[in-house]
Amino acid sequence: MKPKWLPPDHSRKLVAIVFIVFLVMFAIRRGLYHSLHFKHRLVHPGVLSMSTDHRGDLLEMVRSIVPPLAYDRHKGQAGRVGVVGGCQEYTGAPYFAGIAALKSGADLAHVFCTSDAATVIKSYSPELIVHPLLDKQTGVAEMSTWMERLHTLVVGPGMGREQHIMDNVKGVIAKARQLSIPVVIDADGLWLVTVSPEVITGYNKAILTPNIVEFNRLFQAMLGKQPEKNASSENVKQLSQAMGNLTIVQKGQTDVISNGDKVLLADAEGSPCRAGGQGDILSGAMGVFTFWGYDAVRRGVDNPLLKEYGPSIAAAYGASTLTKTCSRLAFSKWGRSMGAADLIPEIHYVFEELFEMSGPGTPVQRL
Ligand SMILES: *[C@@H]1O[C@H](CO)[C@@H](O)[C@H](O)[C@H]1NC(C)=O
Ligand SMILES: *[C@@H]1O[C@H](CO)[C@@H](O)[C@H](O)[C@H]1NC(C)=O
Repeated sequence: MKPKWLPPDHSRKLVAIVFIVFLVMFAIRRGLYHSLHFKHRLVHPGVLSMSTDHRGDLLEMVRSIVPPLAYDRHKGQAGRVGVVGGCQEYTGAPYFAGIAALKSGADLAHVFCTSDAATVIKSYSPELIVHPLLDKQTGVAEMSTWMERLHTLVVGPGMGREQHIMDNVKGVIAKARQLSIPVVIDADGLWLVTVSPEVITGYNKAILTPNIVEFNRLFQAMLGKQPEKNASSENVKQLSQAMGNLTIVQKGQTDVISNGDKVLLADAEGSPCRAGGQGDILSGAMGVFTFWGYDAVRRGVDNPLLKEYGPSIAAAYGASTLTKTCSRLAFSKWGRSMGAADLIPEIHYVFEELFEMSGPGTPVQRL
């Protein structure tokens, strides 16, 4: 006998159907919500899980240089980064480098560009401090004053190859060497180094980030021959030694990093999409990591791999792993449409998962 309080049969079915439909819609909404709001935790479970112990140790090395966040630190302590580049034709590159440094944790990013590029770059972001000094006759002197407040310099994104600009950049690099601040050189900065290697050779706080074409050109210029086929590690080490043991990062599917002594491969999975601007994001992130690396050594941070590889390789490995992983996540959402701008919103999540002190698998407490 059916109790009285139950509705008649057909409306019970109706209630069940409405309930199931509601459940399905709820599940779909959650999925959509999370993919639209970039919460990869649910969309890509295990996407960042590490395969080898060695990689775990390398990430621990990077974590050891990341400065702790604390309320008593003042503005600028986590890094004041200068980006040298940006001209009439290229305004996106210095923007990407500067913003990547900021999103990776730098407190301030200065861009030193030509006067006709400054307003354009400023208008992309209120977060960048933009100086129209790169093409000025008094540029070197004026930039030098600013550089005394910087921790690290990224040279080359969108710099162009005009002679009077390259001459000013030489002056800026000389000042950085004098102040002993780390310098990351990419893009047209590598062109400058290829034609005038003396601006950087022997400066062991420099990191060069050539792609394969730039690498071959530089190798030819320094060693008077083409690099051996199929011997990336050896070639990169050789070029580093020929330039006085500065750090070289040969970019590719796997980034090959050497300081003339050690070689380290950064083989995080990236994406097959070669959208322009990803190199600028890498160099900007590397700028801030490099400052952290040298600062960690100064603070006496105790990590065995940091001791073995040194601050430049640790920084290069960190920036490479961060950028490749951001690229992979952006590609999983946008496919061929992916652009460098799509990497920027990934930085926060990837950084937190890979490098925050609580470590992967031990989520940072959210909200
Ligand atoms: C390059 O090296 C790999 C692995 O060492 C080897 O399998 C491959 O045959 C080599 N290719 C050439 C062209 O030498
Ligand atoms: C560079 O490093 C190699 C290997 O550690 C060493 O043999 C060489 O003397 C170094 N060169 C310079 C210029 O420091």
